[in-house]
Amino acid sequence: MMIDGARRIFDRETLKPKNTLATLRRFGSYFAQHPLALALVSIFIIGAAWTSVIAPDLVGQAVDCYIAPSPLRPDACWYTTVDPAWFGANAGEAAVVATRLAGVTQVVVLLVLVYLFNAVCSGLAFYAMRYAGSLSIRAIQRDLFRQIHRLSLNFFSKNEAGDIMSRVTNDIDTVNQAFSFALMQVLLGTLTVTWIIIRMLQTSVPYALLSLAIVPVMILMTYWFSNQARKAFRQARSNLGSVNAGLQESIAGAREVQAFNREEESIAKFEASNNANRAANVRASLFTSALNPVLEALGYVSLGIVVVVGGLGLLGRIAFIDPATLTIGMVFAFVGYTQRANQPIQQIALLWTNLQSAIAGGERIFGLIDEPLEVVDAPDAKPMPPITGAVRFEQVTAEYVKGEPVLRGVSFEAQVGQMVAIVGPTGAGKTTIINLLPRFYDVTGGAVKIDGIDVRTVTQDTLRSQIGIVLQDTFLFSTSVLENIRYGRPDATDEEVQAAAQMVAAHEFIERLPNGYDTLLGERGSGLSQGQRQLIAIARVALMNPRILILDEATSSVDTRTERIIQAAFEKLLRGRTSFVIAHRLSTIRNADQVFMLKAGEIVERGTHQALLAHKGAYYELYMSQFRATDDAPPPAPAAPRLTPQPAGD
Ligand SMILES: Nc1ncnc2c1ncn2[C@@H]1O[C@H](COP(=O)(O)OP(=O)(O)O)[C@@H](O)[C@H]1O
Ligand SMILES: [Mg+2]
Repeated sequence: MMIDGARRIFDRETLKPKNTLATLRRFGSYFAQHPLALALVSIFIIGAAWTSVIAPDLVGQAVDCYIAPSPLRPDACWYTTVDPAWFGANAGEAAVVATRLAGVTQVVVLLVLVYLFNAVCSGLAFYAMRYAGSLSIRAIQRDLFRQIHRLSLNFFSKNEAGDIMSRVTNDIDTVNQAFSFALMQVLLGTLTVTWIIIRMLQTSVPYALLSLAIVPVMILMTYWFSNQARKAFRQARSNLGSVNAGLQESIAGAREVQAFNREEESIAKFEASNNANRAANVRASLFTSALNPVLEALGYVSLGIVVVVGGLGLLGRIAFIDPATLTIGMVFAFVGYTQRANQPIQQIALLWTNLQSAIAGGERIFGLIDEPLEVVDAPDAKPMPPITGAVRFEQVTAEYVKGEPVLRGVSFEAQVGQMVAIVGPTGAGKTTIINLLPRFYDVTGGAVKIDGIDVRTVTQDTLRSQIGIVLQDTFLFSTSVLENIRYGRPDATDEEVQAAAQMVAAHEFIERLPNGYDTLLGERGSGLSQGQRQLIAIARVALMNPRILILDEATSSVDTRTERIIQAAFEKLLRGRTSFVIAHRLSTIRNADQVFMLKAGEIVERGTHQALLAHKGAYYELYMSQFRATDDAPPPAPAAPRLTPQPAGD
């Protein structure tokens, strides 16, 4: 039961960029499950990018063909039906103009078609991407939710609920947004820019290189800005986790906050984390909003470079550019290329931060999905056969934190149908003992056996479905009383639910509720008294009808009158079942078949209540100091002490 993993992924201080590639690959594996959608995305993206490349090319060729005819490009305008040579040497001015106009008109019509094609392709590409994206998100969400239910209790005691909530809601949301828009833009933009660069290089290497000189600057700028923004985003996301955690705490602990007059303090604390969150968000938006104008300016600079270099090149003023290889049409095409490349570069740069925060979100989501499970079914785990109820602890040691044992060599045996009471000071390890039975945690040494079967060799669900637990603080779901009781056995009929409630004397008070069994309960069963909530929890377990029953301070927070009612309910419930009862009140413990006195993770005394009292040891002292205050019966002085001998090696 190690927890070093748990903090690791929620580490607030770690802002170092982590493994982007692995996260992308992980996203990819989800997308790969929809090959058809991906194939469509690819086809449409290629179509859209192709139109972006072809349009400036058409314009350039039209210039070299009809506007400023150049002998350098004899095959220009292969796609039009107007032969520029038609007008011949002795044609009149009017014929020349008419021919040229006819050619240009064809090019314009073609361009319109190309733009339409572009719009259709990119629209369909987005649609296909969104489709694949939403399916992938659903799969990720499903994995995440499943994982949350598999994680051990230790994980939840180590991590704030707000943090986990933020992961499930905000991170998923960020990733979803990126999937539906940013990812597509980046893919399309990258392909378009690459394609354009290749076209430029094909046309004229020196001209292309000079025109592209500014691109590295743009990339560096983008990289720097987006890195800063990513850090700020990551910080903001973490801070949001603490804002949520603070909020959750204040709501859940509203009564305590008010009772102790800590409203101001609570508000101040919340204010602080809220401010930190705001500061990080402002920082993140500062970088994202500064990036846009900077890139726009760089875009104009790059256009200027293309025009100046092109013009000087045509005039033969640039050393590396041979004017005999350059045409006016090429310069036009380059202007078009540059414009068309600038737009995606700016967009990618802006969306990059978006994508980065999605990657950060993805890292956190996958971190949770990959969180090693502390308690897992063995590969050859078998279903737990119907339990009879013999429980054995063999030299059990347990620790929550490595090297800090909480139980040290606990051995005992509970016969079928026995009631075992565990007593001891707070922190002695009582709850830990009972946590090991349903295998909420694993032992670090020794073994826990039920009916002679090590609990680690059976599946968790078949084990847990046969062990009933009532805790001090019962969680009731925000549904009807009926459904809350039925939680113990989902297939129970309404009549069975009522019978269970009757058995534990909960029926009367439930009938008196405004809507009887159909009364809706709020969060944590608000509206009911503590005792009533406990009765519902007991009815739940009665319905489950388990062979092993665990009561962990189940009556600790109710008044004595209610306790008597609950006590009576328990007595009925415990009959014939093996039970483990942790209680502070003597009335509960007196009838136990065995009492274990636990101290610092060891059983220091064991025997019946009478025998332990007669022994006048630690139990007697605890009893004198603690139990007596809540129990009116004076300690009886038994005549014949009957102390079970401690097993050797304990
Ligand atoms: N989830 C946990 N993580 C780390 N330590 C824990 C956890 N639960 C309990 N402990 C520690 O283990 C010891 C025994 O706890 P517990 O079994 O709950 O005692 P008891 O029920 O007797 O009051 C205590 O020192 C407690 O602080
Ligand atoms: Mg406890």
